[in-house]
Amino acid sequence: MATNTAARRQRILVRALYTGVLVVLARTVYLIITTTAGPTMNTDYQSSWDAERDEQVVKYYSSIFEDFISDGFLTVDSRTLVVGADSQQYIAALRETGIIHSKAIKKNGRLPFQNNTFDLQFSAHTGLDCSSNPGELSSELSRTLKPEGYLIIHMESKDSYSLHSLLELFDSFKLIRSREVPIQDWSIPWREVVLKKQNGILRRRRNLAGSCSVPAYKKEIIQNAEPLIAEEPLKPWNSLKRNLKNIKYLPSMADISFKTRYIYIDVGARNYGSSIGGWFKKLYPKQNKPFKIFAIESDRRFHQEYKSKKKITLLPYAAWVRNESLFFEINRQPNSQHEDKGRGMGRVQSAQTSTSFLGDLNKIQGFDFAKWVKNSFTEKDFVVLKMDVEGTEFDLIQKMIETGAICLIDEMFLKCHYNRWERCCKGERSSKYHKEYNECMELFSSLREKGVLVHQWW
Ligand SMILES: *[C@@H]1O[C@H](CO)[C@@H](O)[C@H](O)[C@H]1NC(C)=O
Ligand SMILES: *[C@@H]1O[C@H](CO)[C@@H](O)[C@H](O)[C@H]1NC(C)=O
Repeated sequence: MATNTAARRQRILVRALYTGVLVVLARTVYLIITTTAGPTMNTDYQSSWDAERDEQVVKYYSSIFEDFISDGFLTVDSRTLVVGADSQQYIAALRETGIIHSKAIKKNGRLPFQNNTFDLQFSAHTGLDCSSNPGELSSELSRTLKPEGYLIIHMESKDSYSLHSLLELFDSFKLIRSREVPIQDWSIPWREVVLKKQNGILRRRRNLAGSCSVPAYKKEIIQNAEPLIAEEPLKPWNSLKRNLKNIKYLPSMADISFKTRYIYIDVGARNYGSSIGGWFKKLYPKQNKPFKIFAIESDRRFHQEYKSKKKITLLPYAAWVRNESLFFEINRQPNSQHEDKGRGMGRVQSAQTSTSFLGDLNKIQGFDFAKWVKNSFTEKDFVVLKMDVEGTEFDLIQKMIETGAICLIDEMFLKCHYNRWERCCKGERSSKYHKEYNECMELFSSLREKGVLVHQWW
């Protein structure tokens, strides 16, 4: 994946340099055709192309490095590291610019350099931007750069979300500038970000308890999201599901590359096919990232199936606001032995309030979901949450807001349970839930106001 991206980026650069190459190449081919006709023709053609391309790459990067010098980021004495695919060409370009102490690397993983080695690091567009493990690469770059040293990154995306993620990855760096730089004749510029390593102390640590800040990049994403359905649907069993095609997924609006981990949490996962297999795996745009999946499901009937799904972590508990035993209500239709495809049953009640409840009750373990989120993930992770918890969402979300756990959620799919119109019986509302549609709307709008990209789940 990452290698493919790198290869594509190189092709883009080649196309950008193409205009210059074409003239020389046409001349070379012409010369070969007129002077030789032997079997070596193909190799000549190829090596001449390569040499010409390399020369253009060196020329391009020499001009980039000269800019760094005139902007005061680089001097001829700087110990310099370049990350990206064309390592030989970067070194040649640096030498041409007069910088002798230079190294170049292509690969991810641990960098074979001591702490605080370099004065300047440059990540070309085939470097960090194409890395399959930006979390590791960023901490290695950070480790090997001297305090007060500069890190300059070329990247393709220009959305605010990806810039913010990048700054989160380099959280002991100060943003010096972000601008667009042209690549020769290519019409789409890269973004060039200049960061400076701060002396030891981490700059900002956010206010996770209470309220999250709602920075401009979050507002921008939410403004572009699909509108909420303001009117209560008369046929919720149709309209909410149909709304799926209107959903503007975060990864369709922004680049999610600069994250350490990719997480999908399915609260109220039920059977595998119901949302993990049936929706997330198939439809959620993942930008080729490897997502780690957590299925939170307290109903024992669904547990067996997850035993064979080695890549999914099952938490066989009910998401709740604290660690305590709960009673789990299995809502059977009065005249039916089975539950309808695993839908619409299982409402949790805390032990104290359920004493008078008449029904099919099972004792289950509830856990503090908000605390778990806060203990397990950070702002460097990309976290997608689906929640379908039979009315408990009002308590869970309240707790997530109070504790700041909500700030760690990048994108949320929420089924809000209210006294919806029944499919079976015209003019009748479901008696199972007491909230009304407008209370659901308030919940959705308040989440969006808090900067959470929330969508209506069906
Ligand atoms: C190098 O830096 C890393 C992380 O910044 C630190 O954990 C490690 O102890 C340092 N090593 C030395 C030899 O100072
Ligand atoms: C209670 O919560 C803690 C984390 O806060 C967790 O480690 C522990 O396993 C939980 N206990 C139960 C019984 O779920």
